[in-house]
Amino acid sequence: MSLLFRRLPVSARTLFIARPAPIIATRTTTRVYTTGTETDNQSKTGKPPSYAPIGVDAALKAPSSGPAPTPTLLSKEFSLADRVGLVSGGNRGLGLEMAYALIEAGARAVYCIDLPKTPSEDWQKVHAYAARLHGKGGEGRLEYISADVTDQKAIWKIGETIGDREGRMDVCVAAAGILKQDIDCLEYPADTFQEVISVNVNGVLYTAQAAGRQMRRFGNGGSIILVGSMSGSITNQGHSWVSYNTSKSAVLQMARSMACELGKEDIRVNSLSPGYIYTKLTGAFVDKQPGLIDKWISQNPQGRIGRPDELRGVVTWLASDASTYCTGSECVVSLILFIKCAFTKEILFWLSIIVDGGHRAW
Ligand SMILES: NC(=O)c1ccc[n+]([C@@H]2O[C@H](COP(=O)([O-])OP(=O)(O)OC[C@H]3O[C@@H](n4cnc5c(N)ncnc54)[C@H](O)[C@@H]3O)[C@@H](O)[C@H]2O)c1
Repeated sequence: MSLLFRRLPVSARTLFIARPAPIIATRTTTRVYTTGTETDNQSKTGKPPSYAPIGVDAALKAPSSGPAPTPTLLSKEFSLADRVGLVSGGNRGLGLEMAYALIEAGARAVYCIDLPKTPSEDWQKVHAYAARLHGKGGEGRLEYISADVTDQKAIWKIGETIGDREGRMDVCVAAAGILKQDIDCLEYPADTFQEVISVNVNGVLYTAQAAGRQMRRFGNGGSIILVGSMSGSITNQGHSWVSYNTSKSAVLQMARSMACELGKEDIRVNSLSPGYIYTKLTGAFVDKQPGLIDKWISQNPQGRIGRPDELRGVVTWLASDASTYCTGSECVVSLILFIKCAFTKEILFWLSIIVDGGHRAW
């Protein structure tokens, strides 16, 4: 206690002496546990959702008889009903998969931003399928806008246009990214390095800004998901991907940094780090290099690489109220990957999702 006392400012020490805090529990040490009233402390846990009470609280407050209670976990906490989202790189691959997952979870509209002037055939099929989804009555719009995420002004303008049109912005998934062929790190050309950083770092920031500025404008909070990679915290064995790995590492720190700045506005920022997933990006390697996919598989205890649909759950969770205490966190979706450390033995890379309101990001 004396250490605690000495750390207090002088004014607080006087208060401490004048009005000793109630001791509600002591252990063998001299630590003192103080408490406020229950109402005081509850007001510090954040605003419950509009559909509260939920969970145990709902059970405790419910009358013991009457109509059967309705579960809320999937219909409310995980629901994206009426939400509006923006997904970069949404023309194909992981971006398209995640954009469509948001629609299935109830989103009113999801805007896919990507380079081609017209969306791909895959996108158009998914668009038509989404429009026919049972029970959606034509809502659940997948929209397409052609733009380059490295053009900050253009991306901000797109965010504004969506905001003007929809009157809200709730979710952002910054998935546009590029990966170049293997190049020796000591010979890596400046322009190629710059190109990767421009899309994977600057482009991710501009996308998050475009959505975040609208979230601030409407004051409803929101969830920003920056797509990183396991390559942000490990090095892919056997690959010379210095630009990609560097860029993805920056994305992890960008998420933590933005989360700490925007936490008070209820704008959550997390990174999502997939392991190897079969898409055009990884196909450009494994389809051309016989045996490469088997190497990747041999590094994975489940003996396989991932499918884009395996991100549906995590992106819905991150976008929804089910994850309101998760910010500044890195969600790693890589099964469990064993990575050979250059100097020591094998180390284990595990799936970790930290749900601490951003505490460790600070
Ligand atoms: N597939 C994997 O194994 C894997 C693993 C970890 C992380 N990731 C990351 O996931 C994201 C999506 O990857 P994917 O596998 O779906 O790749 P993909 O190549 O299929 O899709 C990427 C999309 O981003 C778009 N894009 C690229 N540059 C752009 C720009 N300047 N402006 C707008 N759009 C642009 C592309 O046109 C493409 O549609 C990337 O950020 C990637 O680094 C992928």
